[in-house]
Amino acid sequence: MAQAKTIDGKAFAAALRGRIGAAVGKLAADHGLVPGLAVVLVGEDPASTVYVRNKARQTVEAGMASFKEVLPASTAQAELLDLIARLNADPRVHGILVQLPLPPQIDPEAVLDAIDPAKDVDGFHVINAGRLATGTRGARAPLVPCTPLGCQMLLRDTPGDLAGRHAVVVGRSNIVGKPMAQLLLQDNCTVTIAHSRTRDLPAVCRGADILVAAVGRPEMVQGDWVKPGATVIDVGINRIDKPDGGTRLVGDVAFAAAAAVAGAITPVPGGVGPMTIACLLRNSVTAACRQAGVPVPEM
Ligand code: GUN
Repeated sequence: MAQAKTIDGKAFAAALRGRIGAAVGKLAADHGLVPGLAVVLVGEDPASTVYVRNKARQTVEAGMASFKEVLPASTAQAELLDLIARLNADPRVHGILVQLPLPPQIDPEAVLDAIDPAKDVDGFHVINAGRLATGTRGARAPLVPCTPLGCQMLLRDTPGDLAGRHAVVVGRSNIVGKPMAQLLLQDNCTVTIAHSRTRDLPAVCRGADILVAAVGRPEMVQGDWVKPGATVIDVGINRIDKPDGGTRLVGDVAFAAAAAVAGAITPVPGGVGPMTIACLLRNSVTAACRQAGVPVPEM
């Protein structure tokens, strides 16, 4: 088997951001509409701080308005809910993202429930999750979680037509695994959701034409878990220690071993990661257009 094609998520995301930037410019010119995204960070988790900074920067680079709200780790749930109520009511804000995880005194479900579903650019509100599960289309179509949406865009590009393929999603989180399975089902895959209690996980994975790893365990998926020619999407971002004392980023897939067997595979970094923020910008434009009663542009 030849070496797998590496799916260049970084380049794909850059092209997507270019289309989004062009759409944003046209919305301003034609409708005087400037999409606005508010990102809320509670506390100082280092990884979350980096993500929030990157989200704000890319929002501005796309020509959109960025609102950043940073609250101390000691913030009471009621204070956060007050802030969300203000953002829900602010006409300049079309999208609201509350960075997860939240400190232990705050119930994430209560927070996600409080976000106006029309502004829920993470797609985590039960209304959006429910509409994704029921397959609602058209004007009431859900906002879809950004990471699985990015994976779907990559998969529609490589391998392309997904109908009838066996997709195995390893991981059942509300953020990635469950919505990923729904999107694959909409694209007419036969979908298996595997998880930590799945029996003989390697054998289940070996049945996959499309293998999506979203478990958060460094290099768990081995080369001999991959069906020859399969497309492998690695959602993991794990920082591990190097023997020399530094650290490096690895995915949930043992890349070199899997790439020797797969037909196509996403690298870490440079695969799914850059797609997530690009899809957040895309969702923000979609949300802004719907709120303004303007047709949603192709992006
Ligand atoms: N933390 C890790 N991933 C995500 C995400 O997609 N959205 C939010 N809000 N928090 C996260």
